[in-house]
Amino acid sequence: MIHTIQRGRPLRGTVLCPGDKSISHRYAMLAALAHGTSEVRNFSPSLDCRSTLQCLRSLGVEILEQRESILIPGRGLRGLTSAAEVLDAGNSGTTIRLLSGILAGQHFSSTITGDESLSRRPMARIIEPLRLMGAKIEAADGGLPPLRIRGGGLRAVRYELPVASAQVKSCILLAGLFADGLTAVREPVATRNHTEIALRQFGAAIRLSESWIEIEPEPKLNGLGLSVPCDLSSAAFFITAAALIPGSEILLHDIGTNPSRRALLDYLKLAGVDLAVLNESESAGEARGDIRVQYDPALPGRALPPIQAELTASLIDEIPVLSVLGALSGGLVVRDARELRVKESDRLAAIARNLRAMGAEVEEHADGIAISGGRPLRGAKIETWGDHRIAMAFSVAGLAADGVTHITQAECAGVSFPQFFETLARLRQR
Ligand code: S3P
Repeated sequence: MIHTIQRGRPLRGTVLCPGDKSISHRYAMLAALAHGTSEVRNFSPSLDCRSTLQCLRSLGVEILEQRESILIPGRGLRGLTSAAEVLDAGNSGTTIRLLSGILAGQHFSSTITGDESLSRRPMARIIEPLRLMGAKIEAADGGLPPLRIRGGGLRAVRYELPVASAQVKSCILLAGLFADGLTAVREPVATRNHTEIALRQFGAAIRLSESWIEIEPEPKLNGLGLSVPCDLSSAAFFITAAALIPGSEILLHDIGTNPSRRALLDYLKLAGVDLAVLNESESAGEARGDIRVQYDPALPGRALPPIQAELTASLIDEIPVLSVLGALSGGLVVRDARELRVKESDRLAAIARNLRAMGAEVEEHADGIAISGGRPLRGAKIETWGDHRIAMAFSVAGLAADGVTHITQAECAGVSFPQFFETLARLRQR
């Protein structure tokens, strides 16, 4: 499906973003391993989280979907059953990497795979530590999916992550639930800590010792009533659009503002964007708040602060839309972002190609991009490569460009935000 988008009315009103995708995956998986029934409100409607639910169903977990929440009667730590079919993680890196940690702890074999994009994404980063723990894993050439995992009888390890990745960290911590002793991981740069928070909430013994995250095996996890905050990475598209489009002012409700995840908000404030976090609260260890943002007329004259080193890891999912903001303001330099080449698409190439098609001047480097900024963008045909964040980021570009922008494979937005285009249209009607 091609979606066309063009400049027009400002964004005004209140926005309800979907439940946080990262947190939803983790709640579903831990609820499945718990004793008793968990009720999860505001569970993400994303296709990625549907993939997680479907895989869990194939492993014997009953999941009841209600209007406002999902109910998951837990099977207990050792209660999953062998799937009759190949597990399909779809487009979701979080599903395949986190679930592989759980599958490595099971006394049965499983095969897990995904769509064309996921089948090109590197899995050696989880295969290596899981093999060190004693799991038998076969993969396609180059350490790619499908993964055949024969688990059980895992050894505890102390593992230093070679890449900053919350998915890899989480995979090892989940495998650690089934190990024969204390498992520990250390990350080169702190990444989102939703797994650690959720594990503690469900009753696992997990702690930080020096810079090591340690988890004890064989906890009794208990089912919980939980409510997922709304997804900041989805909110990012509306926040940047409101800052860019004259006359805009929006309020985003109940957005997750976990300190390990809220770098976008601090970054935009540093960039001078008029943004406020209101009504802050916390539930189940996850911070949340409402965000108010309005048009910033001075933005086009200012370069954005560079994104490099640790900041790159903290903004990893927001770099596509910040690149659009960079092109429409006074420019942006992104470094240390090699990881963006192995996301749902090669995002550095996708950003460079599409910004150039819209008339921006962009230098592409092995680990980043330099965007000149200061020039108006013109409408163009956007190649998304089926990558949801590229589709949504360039929809924001289309709102600010001269002429018409065509977003190809626009339905891919559903990977994280099925109602994205409807939500945008509604905000522009007010
Ligand atoms: C995620 C971690 C990040 C992020 C992804 C979601 C998670 O991936 O890009 O969208 O839920 O743990 P990496 O761990 O590969 O950096």
